Amino acid sequence: MRFRSGQFGLFSVKRFVPLPRFARLGRSPWKLAISTFLLIIMTVNLIAQFSVSSVAQDIPKVLQMGTSADYKPFEFHDTSGGEDKIVGFDVDIARRLSEDLGFKLEIVDMDFNGLIPALQSQRVDFVMAGMTPTPERKRNIDFSQIYYEAKNTIIAKQNNSLTTIASLYGKTVGAQLGSTQEEAVKTMNQEAAKQKKPAINLVTRNRVSELIQEIKANRIDAAIVEDTVAQGYTGVYPDLQFSVIENNEGGYAIAFPKGSTLVAPFNKVLATMKKDGTLERFAKKWFEDQGKPAGIGFQQIIPSIPYILGGIGVTLAFTLVSAILGFIWAVVLALMKIAEFKPFRWLANAYTSVFRGTPLILQIALVYFATPQLVGYDIPAFQAGVIAFALNSGAYVSETLRAGILAVDKGQREAALSLGVPYRLMMTDIILPQALKNILPALANEGINLLKDSALVSTIGAADLLRRATVVGAEKYLYFEPLIIAAIVYYVMVMLLTMGTSVLEKRLQRSA
Ligand code: ARG
Repeated sequence: MRFRSGQFGLFSVKRFVPLPRFARLGRSPWKLAISTFLLIIMTVNLIAQFSVSSVAQDIPKVLQMGTSADYKPFEFHDTSGGEDKIVGFDVDIARRLSEDLGFKLEIVDMDFNGLIPALQSQRVDFVMAGMTPTPERKRNIDFSQIYYEAKNTIIAKQNNSLTTIASLYGKTVGAQLGSTQEEAVKTMNQEAAKQKKPAINLVTRNRVSELIQEIKANRIDAAIVEDTVAQGYTGVYPDLQFSVIENNEGGYAIAFPKGSTLVAPFNKVLATMKKDGTLERFAKKWFEDQGKPAGIGFQQIIPSIPYILGGIGVTLAFTLVSAILGFIWAVVLALMKIAEFKPFRWLANAYTSVFRGTPLILQIALVYFATPQLVGYDIPAFQAGVIAFALNSGAYVSETLRAGILAVDKGQREAALSLGVPYRLMMTDIILPQALKNILPALANEGINLLKDSALVSTIGAADLLRRATVVGAEKYLYFEPLIIAAIVYYVMVMLLTMGTSVLEKRLQRSA
């Protein structure tokens, strides 16, 4: 649902507030003063309402901005503040727009080639992603005025002389999927065909950072990237260079769904920002110290370490909740397995065989992707993970439990029954406590496994330890260092658990 601003004007009266005592007590001078005061407020309110609504009439309270946050310094992830934030030149402009037009900004990150479909299906209200208005795009979406000029460049390793379009013929060249750079390479190939030169082998990737990694790994020879972004990468990686190619790429504009009423108010604020120097200020802020190497390796990771470590809490919470739910489920399954009633046994065994016979990662994906389709609930990654883990762990633990129960001396069971102890009491007071004691070490092992396997939830995007390490890796273009940090943290956690387990085991042995 959308709320509209401007509806209430500056002062919204939501509740009836009785006048304070002194006001009610007073006679006509008080009354007169108060009613005059109220009248003034109402008039001001009314005027304000009209003047606001003339600009912001059609602007919903919350606007979703689509972006592809792989485009430093325009939009990129920043985890140095302990949380994952999207920042940059475009984001600053969007924030200023939201301030001036009175809406709350929500940023949705996706691959660049998903942005135009997102606009067309109205999943986002506008897009700021360094997007260039082209005639083809204009047929499907609307654009604001241009707010930044850009040029295409060739990024390649320093030593090879790939600096002109002609030098690219016959080489493997990367471009971001769905970008104007992809089109640019196709145009170059038409030219190559005309000149009877070998064609460029075009390779596309979803994210610009992936293109850079491919160049560094020598899997592609070069990539076409816009100048300001290229400057950033070549600054961080001295072994890369960029050369501007003559064609003028065009500029960046804000994109909207076709026919959006936002275009006019956005253009108005953009024009003001140009005039009052705001755009220039933002440019200074984001482009000036672009591409200075931020130190090597671990040095670059240091500001993001708190963000990575924040994943410990997520991982532990995840493990704990899954372990508890899984255990409860396992008790139910185990009781079914030893029940007299055959269908119970059959069901529980079939369940166990399915959950032990399919990969855990597949179960996670199934719960996460199928739930919205089956029950219409858009399940968060964390919940989906917990459910899949509990279902899976329940299957394994139920076997352990069953074995534990069967291992408790059969005589005890017979004795209890012959003494007339009811089945439930016999289970909860006599059999299960002893069974639990026997299988405690096995349960602790299951806990350790859960802790390590919890890293699998990063595949569906839950912000656990591993996920955070990969986010930081993508942000800094460094994968080794953050992964090593995560590995150390996992190892320490598992070691602590293992130590706890062996202490427990020794105690149990002594008490036995
Ligand atoms: N200006 C180019 C285009 O419109 C590339 C933009 C890429 N933007 C991004 N956030 N990756 O296609």
